[in-house]
Amino acid sequence: MKFFIDTANLDQIKEAQQLGVLDGVTTNPSLMAKEGITGEENILQHYKDICAITDGHVSAEVIATDFDGMVKEGEALAALNPQIVVKLPMIADGVKACKYFSDKGIKTNVTLVFSAGQALLAAKAGATYVSPFIGRLDDISTDGLNLINEIRLIYDNYGFTTEILAASVRHTMHVIDCAKIGADVMTGPLSAIKGLLKHPLTDIGLEKFLADYKKGNS
Ligand code: E4P
Repeated sequence: MKFFIDTANLDQIKEAQQLGVLDGVTTNPSLMAKEGITGEENILQHYKDICAITDGHVSAEVIATDFDGMVKEGEALAALNPQIVVKLPMIADGVKACKYFSDKGIKTNVTLVFSAGQALLAAKAGATYVSPFIGRLDDISTDGLNLINEIRLIYDNYGFTTEILAASVRHTMHVIDCAKIGADVMTGPLSAIKGLLKHPLTDIGLEKFLADYKKGNS
């Protein structure tokens, strides 16, 4: 399973990279705005800065909602760095743009996916990644993990190569549950990744090992 971090915060991306388990980064317009990154030039520079931290894929989302606009923006984003994945919304023009980019060998991530049918369309359009938002489904009392299950089944039935990128991951148990189901990738906050480290028996055990070593070597 690949681990992507879902942030535009450079310090957090560096911390995840230094941990040695980071496979890529996803961003969205809200995450960029949260970091105060505005204006076309600054936004493009920020994507370049992210690509300089990680060797992995970096999803950069288009703002246009029409086919021509998505193609123009997506081509500019893809030209920044081969690591860039053009992130497109799950709307008719987004699916069309996904097919256009996949035919050209440009990597895509179809975002804002909330149903198995939408995921099927993204795969048919040749998406590199599909992003089902599990946390936002949980937020409205719907089972987000069940959507990952459904997409896994459908993709495996037909051998689709589109990678299931479990998005809107909010906490550590989401990561573990997505791994059990067989999501190819998860993207979440740094806290969800670091939460995997924690177990009280690890801390107690280490404390005892070090105390016993000290006793024998003092
Ligand atoms: C996915 O690519 C999105 O950036 C993200 O996972 C959305 O997460 P949220 O629902 O926590 O905002």
